[in-house]
Amino acid sequence: SYVKQFQDYLLTWYDENKRTLPWRENQDPYRVWVSEIMLQQTRVDTVIPYFERFTQQFPTLQDLAYADEEKVLKAWEGLGYYSRVRNLQTAVKEVCESYGGIVPNTPKEIAELKGVGPYTAGAVLSIAYGIPEPAVDGNVMRVLSRILLIEEDISKPKTRVLFEKAVRELISHEDPSSFNQALMELGALICTPKSPACLLCPMRELCRGFESGRQAELPVKLGK
Ligand code: ADE
Repeated sequence: SYVKQFQDYLLTWYDENKRTLPWRENQDPYRVWVSEIMLQQTRVDTVIPYFERFTQQFPTLQDLAYADEEKVLKAWEGLGYYSRVRNLQTAVKEVCESYGGIVPNTPKEIAELKGVGPYTAGAVLSIAYGIPEPAVDGNVMRVLSRILLIEEDISKPKTRVLFEKAVRELISHEDPSSFNQALMELGALICTPKSPACLLCPMRELCRGFESGRQAELPVKLGK
């Protein structure tokens, strides 16, 4: 079936091509969370050394919760968008007070935490807990707009919900973590914004954008 082939091609490619990244060393929900917050407005190469230093300085969720805000902001210096780390510290304090220091594993509870939007919630649930939830950011929308030939305007807030529906139909229930990370990895390494490497793409045979020669016109982004 299309879904089975989609999963098989994507997961086989990911297994053979995934990068070794520090936040992939283990599935600690706190580390996954920190990495996803850092990666939201900052590229992977920049994030790596910050992630290493931050998690050495604050190895556990409790360490971050009880740290001086001044030290936390200092560790974030250079990454910018400081509300990200202020919200993160507020949220880990909440996890300590309301959940005994365990990052909640339900969509409702995790999405209530400060600074945790639908993308971050889905990323932590799938990568740390193996729960089949979508984690749709701009990169994932680019990849899926091409493979599935989705021509909705990705700058509209409602459009993400449509892509989440698509992911729910496609996601591997055996390995939701690898499935979501493989979509991100494909977007980073092959299905790039400009001149995607379609000839190297594991999804080429299933890609409706490539089939119609319109991959370069996707995603549609009309702007707000
Ligand atoms: N971009 C956002 N999340 C990522 C992840 N977990 N790995 C690589 N790139 C990402």
